[in-house]
Amino acid sequence: MELRPMSRLVIISNRVSVPTSDVGGAQGGLSVALAAALRESTGIWFGWSGEETAHFSGHINFQRNFGVTTATIDLEAQDIDEYYNGYANRTLWPLFHYRVDLAEFERGFAGGYERVNARFADTVAPLIEAEDLVWVHDYHLIPLGQKLRERGCRNRIGFFLHIPWPPTPLLLSLPSHRELVQSVFAYDVVGFQTLDSLEAFRDYARVQLDAEFGEDGSVTHEGRTIRAIACPIGIDTAEFRASATSEVALGVFERMRLSANGRTMIIGVDRLDYSKGLEERFLGYERFLGSHPDQHGAVFLLQIAPPSRADVQSYQEIRAHLDALSGRINGEFADAEWVPIRYVNKGHRRDQLAGMYRAARIGLVTPLRDGMNLVAKEYVAAQDPADPGVLILSRFAGAAEQLVDALLINPHSPEDMADAIATALAMPLAERIARWRRLMDNIEAEDVIWWRRRFTEALEAARPHPLPPG
Ligand code: F6P
Repeated sequence: MELRPMSRLVIISNRVSVPTSDVGGAQGGLSVALAAALRESTGIWFGWSGEETAHFSGHINFQRNFGVTTATIDLEAQDIDEYYNGYANRTLWPLFHYRVDLAEFERGFAGGYERVNARFADTVAPLIEAEDLVWVHDYHLIPLGQKLRERGCRNRIGFFLHIPWPPTPLLLSLPSHRELVQSVFAYDVVGFQTLDSLEAFRDYARVQLDAEFGEDGSVTHEGRTIRAIACPIGIDTAEFRASATSEVALGVFERMRLSANGRTMIIGVDRLDYSKGLEERFLGYERFLGSHPDQHGAVFLLQIAPPSRADVQSYQEIRAHLDALSGRINGEFADAEWVPIRYVNKGHRRDQLAGMYRAARIGLVTPLRDGMNLVAKEYVAAQDPADPGVLILSRFAGAAEQLVDALLINPHSPEDMADAIATALAMPLAERIARWRRLMDNIEAEDVIWWRRRFTEALEAARPHPLPPG
């Protein structure tokens, strides 16, 4: 079979993380995955540097590290405020995570979102070569495809949404919902994490746009046809399994065992975000402690929650609530020798986390809503096959569509959570192994390489975009 050379890939996302090593170190799973894709195909990764500048100049900072070329721009304070803290994280994020009560609809935010998307388009367009595949990521940049088309870009452009797509009645509360969804039709391929999100998108297109649907997943609106697919993101399973038995991970594993002092460890690892259901998790664990006095002193919960988006008020509030709640539960149940919750507001390297996951009998992944949740997959991948832990997973994480052999729970119910913890603690080794093997089969088959290939192959198969009329 003749191997076609891979097209150059231009990845565009809000944040770009410059690779610090070949295997990740402190980086998140997604950055490791995208960096791996770029190493394989050449190309560039474009986005915001995370830095502020007094006046936006369009200056691009190119860097090449560990085989990956990154191109970043700085943004003005007003951009960061209106686009990142504003429209992305005070309007779209809560709304797309079913929290209309937290969503703020300010015209200034919408204006900043449009402006920054236009700035991205202006600066990245000259970097795009004729045959490049362009792959735009996440809710910060939904209109970017349209802005690139307006600047004459005829490349195949794909968009992948990492967070849930909300049901139509929720989306209707966004003042400019129609413009936002219509802008999606500038892409060639649009990927969602789950069938649930894909169906919600198709529902909006059917009900609000009167779109037409083809059998291959195509959706046509006002003469533009896109392919909308469900394409769940995975982890770099082989890399993560290797990192779980690395020297660093085994060192952490041993230290955790010593510090646990014979107690059973339950672990949660999440960005400090209201969508992660941390209050509900603490309340469920409190319920478990209340109904299982025999377990006092025998278990503890290690909750790692690095602060996130600290300029946004709802994030400041959730942090304050969790400080109070963890303090209350510890005050209620602790004794001189035992603290039931170890609550840590610090980020950790991936290999350290892998060691902690391996040392934990239970992985508690209970978001109220989540596009996917890669922690669930990493927890499973880090386990010792001969003595694996049990994953307790929210039904409302995208990962629940694939990881059906976890203990699936409703995170809103403290009783459900308490029962699942008791079930997991009592689960016989044979059942733990059987469940773990079935979970791993999925995590190995549908890993990040599978995800990237599936998406980029769909994009390669798209027809080149027609020239604009006239
Ligand atoms: O997956 C959702 C997401 O917003 C990513 O786009 C982002 O990299 C990650 O969560 C962390 O959020 P932030 O970049 O706002 O710190």
